[in-house]
Amino acid sequence: EITLRARQIVGFDDHQHLSISGRFALVEGRLCAGGGIVLPGAYHRRVSGGPAPVENLFFADGKVTRDRRARRNGHSGRVVWFTGLSASGKSTLAIELERQLFNAGRQVYFLDGDNLRHGLCAGLGFSATDRTENIRRAAEAAKLFADAGIICLAAFISPLRADRDRARSLLEPGKFIEVHVATPVEVCRQRDPKGLYARADRGEIKEFTGVTAPYEPPEKPEIVLHPERESVDACVTRLLEFLAEQDNGSFSI
Ligand code: ADX
Repeated sequence: EITLRARQIVGFDDHQHLSISGRFALVEGRLCAGGGIVLPGAYHRRVSGGPAPVENLFFADGKVTRDRRARRNGHSGRVVWFTGLSASGKSTLAIELERQLFNAGRQVYFLDGDNLRHGLCAGLGFSATDRTENIRRAAEAAKLFADAGIICLAAFISPLRADRDRARSLLEPGKFIEVHVATPVEVCRQRDPKGLYARADRGEIKEFTGVTAPYEPPEKPEIVLHPERESVDACVTRLLEFLAEQDNGSFSI
């Protein structure tokens, strides 16, 4: 409705996404002459840095709001992020949780490290740099699912705290639920369903998490699971209870 032109670059946000920096006051002398909020629109992005030039990119906002999606689905979108060693049971738990949520009529989708590495993350290895990029892509994908109103269950070793914190920062508070699948490394080794620990021990796989590469456990995960002493059903029940509590019980199955 009004176009304001400034002499200097002014940083602002879309009010819908970040209200505190999405509003402004117009000051004339010492008087407040007006104010407003910044509506969503095709603004020039002048963010510097990043891998690709972004100055000619715009944000396009759809007309279907998050609220409308949540009302139709009966729940909001979010990301349940499973982190833990290889063979800790992340995928098994996520797959069972997905099954139960789906059967209860929820919109849910499972994103898995091994699977993504065949497509979106193909070509990435297991160096710290590649893992960071792997988690960045996975987190962006998970965020899109959450935006689409889906409960996204993401299972990635994601060994580095900073990478997981970055993933968390993509979502609104409460919409990123970090689940530490805290199976001890000795148990993972014993299980070794893919024979990878044995191969790492023989030196055939470099930078293997828990053997020759680090795993930084989360400091404040929303949930810690111990599949070595809790059944899959017990773990999944705890996850369902957490989700139900978040939605004030309306989530119960
Ligand atoms: S992450 O560290 O970047 O988060 P991600 O979850 O995508 O890892 O993939 C882990 C899977 O890759 C493991 O389950 C295992 O099957 C396989 N893998 C192959 N090499 C390694 C390695 N060096 N360290 C850990 N996992 C590996």
